[in-house]
Amino acid sequence: MAHPYTAFLKLTFIFIVIASAPELGGSKQTFTFVNYCKETIWPGITHNDNFTSGSFILKPCQSQAFTAPSGWNGRIWARTGCNFDKNGSGKCQTGGCGTGMNCSAPASPPSTLAEFTLGEIDYYDVSLVDGFNLPIAVQAVNGTGNCSSAGCDGDLRQNCPSQLAMKDNGKVIACRSACDVFKTDEYCCTGQHGDPGTCLPSNYSKSFKSVCPVAYSYAYDDPTSVKTCSGADFVVTFCGSRNQTLPTSHDNQRPCNASKAYKAIPQSWWVLMLPLAFMFNSWIAS
Ligand SMILES: *[C@@H]1O[C@H](CO)[C@@H](O)[C@H](O)[C@H]1NC(C)=O
Ligand SMILES: *[C@@H]1O[C@H](CO)[C@@H](O)[C@H](O)[C@H]1NC(C)=O
Ligand SMILES: *[C@@H]1O[C@H](CO)[C@@H](O)[C@H](O)[C@H]1NC(C)=O
Ligand SMILES: *[C@@H]1O[C@H](CO)[C@@H](O)[C@H](O)[C@H]1NC(C)=O
Ligand SMILES: *[C@@H]1O[C@H](CO)[C@@H](O)[C@H](O)[C@H]1NC(C)=O
Ligand SMILES: *[C@@H]1O[C@H](CO)[C@@H](O)[C@H](O)[C@H]1NC(C)=O
Ligand SMILES: *[C@@H]1O[C@H](CO)[C@@H](O)[C@H](O)[C@H]1NC(C)=O
Ligand SMILES: *[C@@H]1O[C@H](CO)[C@@H](O)[C@H](O)[C@H]1NC(C)=O
Repeated sequence: MAHPYTAFLKLTFIFIVIASAPELGGSKQTFTFVNYCKETIWPGITHNDNFTSGSFILKPCQSQAFTAPSGWNGRIWARTGCNFDKNGSGKCQTGGCGTGMNCSAPASPPSTLAEFTLGEIDYYDVSLVDGFNLPIAVQAVNGTGNCSSAGCDGDLRQNCPSQLAMKDNGKVIACRSACDVFKTDEYCCTGQHGDPGTCLPSNYSKSFKSVCPVAYSYAYDDPTSVKTCSGADFVVTFCGSRNQTLPTSHDNQRPCNASKAYKAIPQSWWVLMLPLAFMFNSWIAS
């Protein structure tokens, strides 16, 4: 049986360790995914990402955070209207990436894509080159450098040019790219239009640009759509805007009410705490 005072010292020490635990992950880069959409989404991440354990679901107003492996590069998008069976196989209306919950292929267009290359300097952008399925905004926080936000301020599904609209039961569920629909060199920036001088914005790409002002609306769009930051944490917002208020544990912002909104504890923290919890448990008992 431990002396009460010794137990008190041990508990104080435990408290200090717990309080400082998040600091240990200081050099890691956190990705927080926030769903401000009215619908449930299944975020899609380039497969073999090794940090989201396959797949996860975000209901409206939910958020979830993960720690990215250093030097990760890949794409993040949203799958909508998914229907998976108990074995995790099934389909999505938009953004599907293979035949199951875990992506085994790239996102099928039309799909808004957030693209990342992490390194000494992190590069990130939002691309509509493969079309648009819902608004994505990327905010870089806790980093140094320019770190401005990329992506959308509105929802192109509400004013998608009719020739490009992808519908389900009369409802526009996504907006295809002009290249995908018409397959001409002019829209695809191929052949005679295969360089930045001859590949010009079209009426279609302009309507994309008006909704997502800091995004690639066609293959050779304004290269300032790529943003840079160093050592940032990223917040990837679905159906929000570039100036979206960042989620906190006391989130009271529209469209999410506090009771529905929560910020998950980054996975790495649990990985660290679980063995510690077991160790201290036996130590206290000693
Ligand atoms: C992912 O994990 C597998 C097995 O642990 C490893 O072989 C692979 O290199 C990892 N991929 C990345 C991108 O870290
Ligand atoms: C998805 O991937 C995770 C992690 O790699 C694995 O644990 C899980 O069993 C996979 N799920 C399906 C349905 O394949
Ligand atoms: C799930 O997988 C098991 C074993 O592979 C199979 O027997 C079962 O029919 C599958 N269930 C569905 C709904 O596909
Ligand atoms: C940083 O961002 C601002 C505003 O977006 C821009 O005017 C400026 O040129 C950027 N600076 C660099 C070095 O990219
Ligand atoms: C683009 O829109 C303008 C104005 O609505 C129209 O006059 C023009 O013909 C359109 N161009 C193409 C290529 O559709
Ligand atoms: C920014 O850093 C602080 C302190 O490390 C952390 O609490 C916060 O979650 C970080 N923000 C994001 C969006 O990851
Ligand atoms: C964010 O931008 C939108 C327009 O894009 C504007 O209506 C809104 O007031 C802005 N919100 C904040 C908090 O600045
Ligand atoms: C948030 O909660 C308030 C009161 O509880 C309610 O009036 C409001 O409609 C809610 N907003 C949303 C977007 O659910």
